[in-house]
Amino acid sequence: MSQRRSALQVVDGIDLSGNACVITGASSGLGRESARALAAAGAHVVLAARNQDALTQTAEWIRAEVPGARTSTVHLDLTALASVRAAATTIRDITPVIHVLMNNAGVMFTPFGRTRDGFELQIGTNHFGHFELTRLLVPQLAAADGARLVILSSGGHAMGDVDLGDPNWENREYDKFVAYGASKTANILHAVEADRRLRDAGIRAYAVHPGTVATSLARYMSSSDFSQLRKFVAANSAAHGEESDGFLDFVMPEHGAATQVWAAVSPELAHNGGVYLEDCAVSQAVAPHARDAQHAAELWMLSEKLCAQ
Ligand SMILES: NC(=O)c1ccc[n+]([C@@H]2O[C@H](COP(=O)([O-])OP(=O)(O)OC[C@H]3O[C@@H](n4cnc5c(N)ncnc54)[C@H](OP(=O)(O)O)[C@@H]3O)[C@@H](O)[C@H]2O)c1
Repeated sequence: MSQRRSALQVVDGIDLSGNACVITGASSGLGRESARALAAAGAHVVLAARNQDALTQTAEWIRAEVPGARTSTVHLDLTALASVRAAATTIRDITPVIHVLMNNAGVMFTPFGRTRDGFELQIGTNHFGHFELTRLLVPQLAAADGARLVILSSGGHAMGDVDLGDPNWENREYDKFVAYGASKTANILHAVEADRRLRDAGIRAYAVHPGTVATSLARYMSSSDFSQLRKFVAANSAAHGEESDGFLDFVMPEHGAATQVWAAVSPELAHNGGVYLEDCAVSQAVAPHARDAQHAAELWMLSEKLCAQ
């Protein structure tokens, strides 16, 4: 674990002065650490999340850690498209050019619920809210002439595919594991299709698995959920020809945030988008359902339609 790079080590020698990086879910965990690292490299970090007090505290922490850091905060609740649209307007007022949009906010294994717009809570928060935010910020990303869209997914995408006929669990019994997997599959498919559609505008997109990181994400998990997750990890490892007892090897956020920060800054990735990243490298550990270009295109069209309603 000690050989893993930290997010701060990833930005060592990188100069982001004059760049603006927008990070959702920046008030805790991986988003907070990513914001500190990007600020340390000189970027103006725009921190977006729904809890204004937590955002203010995060901005103060970053300025204490990185003297002279430039921070802005934006209220964003991904469970309401009206809030997403208001946040996009505020972000545009803060910065006319966005060099990095990091779609990091997320929820995991929530009990069944719906967003304000009727989406199932996990795919609504993790995918549809971010899809709409990204769509609204494309002109600002294009203005950077070399922007990156970094989308947090998870190895948990293997737990479920997006059912394009029933993305919001209207006709099936809800399964919180499969629903999280579907939302994280949607994140990868979003990166695949965004990269295809937007690369001519100078925007490249990346999906990231950060590893298993000690954050607040597990707040909805019971001990039996942890057992079930360990079984899934063991079965998934076996499917890839690896042996595992399903032990969850947690890292701390300062290391867990390394790959998403690498996605945002690494020169190695400048001409290689639409890929899935893990351990600061391109990874092939993507389930077939999450790398299907046709599926990605169909999800994009469905997302446009559902977010427009
Ligand atoms: N930790 C891991 O092991 C792991 C593994 C694989 C993938 N990931 C992915 O990494 C990303 C970051 O997770 P994390 O581990 O850093 O979790 P975290 O500490 O729980 O942070 C999640 C962030 O998302 C925000 N958020 C949640 N719902 C939101 C909403 N409706 N609108 C706006 N912001 C919202 C949270 O703010 P509130 O405080 O307001 O809820 C928080 O700032 C997620 O996309 C997750 O799926 C994490």
